[in-house]
Amino acid sequence: MADSKPIRLDKAISQVTDLSRAEVKRAAKQERITVNGVAVSDPSSKIYESDELCLDGELLGEAGPRYFMLNKPLGYVCATKDGEHPTVLDLLDEPNKHKLHIAGRLDIDTTGLVLVTDDGQWSHRITSPRHHCDKTYYAQLADPIDDSAIDKFEKGIWLNNEKTRTKPAKLEILYRNEVRVTISEGRYHQVKRMFAALGNRVLELHRERIGQIDLDEDLAEGDYRPLTEDEIISVGNEST
Ligand code: URA
Repeated sequence: MADSKPIRLDKAISQVTDLSRAEVKRAAKQERITVNGVAVSDPSSKIYESDELCLDGELLGEAGPRYFMLNKPLGYVCATKDGEHPTVLDLLDEPNKHKLHIAGRLDIDTTGLVLVTDDGQWSHRITSPRHHCDKTYYAQLADPIDDSAIDKFEKGIWLNNEKTRTKPAKLEILYRNEVRVTISEGRYHQVKRMFAALGNRVLELHRERIGQIDLDEDLAEGDYRPLTEDEIISVGNEST
């Protein structure tokens, strides 16, 4: 199997140690870093996931859990691999990407906030229905919607082929055919199917928020950043 995309040595080392990029650079110049047993003094050298990294003769372990938010563009799938389409993981320039997973998928034609991590317990608190982690979407609809839909969303909607109503959802009507919806479940194509059940159709769907984490306005489509400590610990603080 082909190795993963190479990444810069200084980035890889600073991810698995407390060293800043500048400190990694100094350590490399002092020949304190080896890659597969060979000292490497150029911090911009490219290395692969499978390479063995040592600092001062100590084998570097794995980095602690990692948490990222990403602004998903149209046309990307929320999967770790796909034969046909690019995946959101293709947008990440990180080592050991095979260890990361997506905490709550979006459809290929949905844009916006996607959280990626290697912490399975943390992502479970986002995706498990028991934890009632709210997700907020902006949607553009094919047809105008009237206020009676607010109550229907609040009471729960019967979706095709489902045995239970959807849990109470909040619908905010922004304009005649623009809405903001907050749901606490993650049923298959849930938002699109809720509007379909009312005879409407979602033309555009964009996730703005998961729990207390808002999509960073400074992230252009396709960009990502690590979560802040506050964002990480906010998950699980929702009511259960
Ligand atoms: N609901 C949908 O219908 N699609 C998504 O991508 C997310 C929620």
